[in-house]
Amino acid sequence: MPSKEMFTETEHLQLAIRETLTQSRARTLQLFEDVSEDTFRLQANSDFSPVGWHLGHIGFTEGLWLLEHEAGFAPLFPEYRQLFAADGLPKAERQNLPSFTEICAYLDQIRNQVWDYLLEAPLDSRAWLWHWLVQHESQHCETITWVLQLHRRKSQPVAFVPKEKKWPVAVVNVSKTAKTSLPDPGMLPIEGGRFLLGNDQLEALDNEKKSHWVQVDSFWMDRFPVTQGQYQQFIEAGGYGQSHYWSAAGWQWLQSNPVNHPTHWMAEGGADHPVCGVSWYEADAYARFVGKRLPTEAEWEKAACWHPAPQDPPTKRDYPWGNQALEKHHCNHGGLQWGTTPVHQYAKGQSAYGCFDLLGNVWEWTNTWFHPFPDFEPYPYKGYSMVYFDHQHRILKGGSWATQAPVLRGAFRNWYEPRIRIHFAGFRCAYG
Ligand code: AVJ
Ligand code: FE
Repeated sequence: MPSKEMFTETEHLQLAIRETLTQSRARTLQLFEDVSEDTFRLQANSDFSPVGWHLGHIGFTEGLWLLEHEAGFAPLFPEYRQLFAADGLPKAERQNLPSFTEICAYLDQIRNQVWDYLLEAPLDSRAWLWHWLVQHESQHCETITWVLQLHRRKSQPVAFVPKEKKWPVAVVNVSKTAKTSLPDPGMLPIEGGRFLLGNDQLEALDNEKKSHWVQVDSFWMDRFPVTQGQYQQFIEAGGYGQSHYWSAAGWQWLQSNPVNHPTHWMAEGGADHPVCGVSWYEADAYARFVGKRLPTEAEWEKAACWHPAPQDPPTKRDYPWGNQALEKHHCNHGGLQWGTTPVHQYAKGQSAYGCFDLLGNVWEWTNTWFHPFPDFEPYPYKGYSMVYFDHQHRILKGGSWATQAPVLRGAFRNWYEPRIRIHFAGFRCAYG
């Protein structure tokens, strides 16, 4: 084996990409280790496809963008296009799938051609597309995890009693009338001023560009995501039965979707774990219940990435802890714990302001509709982000315990309809 120093710059890049794609695929296949052929093709929820479909779609997308569009090769298995294209069959018709072994063989054949193409690909100008594909696979892995947890939830219904009563922060309700009174001690003050929202780096997805200055007024931010213990007070106070805690749209949603606890309620963990599996409507109702509100996207990202230095100009950082690459001790991510963790566990992941768990553990709903930033240009296709700029999708930030490293960063924007509640979404509240 020649030492790394003997490679050219291009060969270094090729090796790095090969390593990243290989790691990404290994993580994907790991998710399928205990999955039966039934679970593989069964649709657990009408909003999401069977996990086996996601696996085929990951390979199809890689072939479509790298082999067909970039390299100009003829499609491999053209008979799979209709099945695995995002705009092919309706979700309910994606259950008639090849076996796990057959789909793995399909993925391998695509990968073998990708390795050939990698040797001649223009990596200096097109590296972003390779990054996009890794992030695409990561995002589908997370969806696979949601669907797998939903299958498990169906065979093991949730336990309603918390294992321990341990409150990570004092719960002091804010007076609903006196807006000037101090919020509870679990909140941190964030000073007002200009903030640089968005991300122009190579890995940035189309919707993160271009970064631009926004004015953020001073506000208070919850130090931790809202915990199951705190949310239980909302349930016990009859929160699900009282319309005055809900937005009009939220109350209407609740009438046709009668639920009385989050999807992953107290399933694992306990009172000091974050709420996991709430719709935006439930998050918004809880915030009203405690006299607070959901943060805007800009407030959330400022609390996560802004570093106000008293003597120097403030800086925008990639992660709450700074610009050092993500490590295991920073936050609960990548399925390492296979579930949520107590919200105070990751002290090393605190933001400059002292907020915990901004990345990892649970996605956090914001009050902001998914929308384009200035000079938005769609890539690699309009259907990735642009069709969702429709005032029907709320932005989620921060990633969950299942989110993989390639998509974990302060600037990443996720989006779902406010009614969606099977994903690993929680929230924290803002005030002021
Ligand atoms: C950004 C997570 C909402 O999964 O629907 C995957 C990502 N887009 N393939 C989704 C995506 C195309 C997208 N989310
Ligand atoms: Fe996709």
